[in-house]
Amino acid sequence: MCEWKEKVTKSFDECVDAYETDSKIQAFAACQFAQYLPNLECPKILEIGCGTGILTNKLLDKYQDGKFHITDISSNMVERARSNISKDTAINWTVMDGENPSCSEKFDLIVSNMSFQWFEKPKESLEKLCKFLNPNGKIFYTVPGNHCFKEWRSILDDLKLQSGMLKTIDWLGIFKEEELNVQYESSIDFLRSIKTIGAGTPRNGYKSLTHAEITNACRTLDTSFHGKISWHIMYGCINKEIMKT
Ligand SMILES: C[S@@+](CC[C@H](N)C(=O)[O-])C[C@H]1O[C@@H](n2cnc3c(N)ncnc32)[C@H](O)[C@@H]1O
Repeated sequence: MCEWKEKVTKSFDECVDAYETDSKIQAFAACQFAQYLPNLECPKILEIGCGTGILTNKLLDKYQDGKFHITDISSNMVERARSNISKDTAINWTVMDGENPSCSEKFDLIVSNMSFQWFEKPKESLEKLCKFLNPNGKIFYTVPGNHCFKEWRSILDDLKLQSGMLKTIDWLGIFKEEELNVQYESSIDFLRSIKTIGAGTPRNGYKSLTHAEITNACRTLDTSFHGKISWHIMYGCINKEIMKT
């Protein structure tokens, strides 16, 4: 595993408790997302990046006759998700890097809520995941879109400072996008809320801002936006054909 991915894993590993209480946006996305999942009989389902099991619980409700392979790169997340779920039949729990899937079977549905953005090579990894789909299988996913935290990005741009946010790509099969305006107490509160849930690892190769630069950017953000920050969530569905285009 590369050094950056080790950092990502460690960060989520160490923040399981806080993730459980503070991942409100991710929980919101999981709720919306579950409504778009297709009705299937006795499906075989693979979940990538299960976190503490927010989406997992919804999958178990929706597909009562399903067979599940539930995974995350963080062992602590897998352990917590497992302890949050009462039903434990037909569930295979695995610590697994979704970019290097090690599965011995194929699936009708591969799902992931707010995790693919952590892939180092999203396009190549989705191609790999497609190989684990049954002929009519689909990958359903959500990711933060490129307008996520646009206020913070614009302030950093104006101040000619680099942003450590993850690079966004042209995600395929996007069928819905939504923007949520979240009111934080302050910009520090916003930055802290991201770090607290383990999602604060900056993109690979990022050179951190100095304390003075962060202080200046936060002051400017507070003056301009008064703690209002946008989240942009994208919902996608991919099959083997889409990946070939
Ligand atoms: C923002 S959380 C989302 C968790 C969960 N899906 C939810 O909706 O609450 C991102 C999750 O992706 C996991 N993750 C990050 N990189 C991963 C990778 N390469 N393979 C599998 N899981 C990964 C993290 O450990 C973390 O649990």
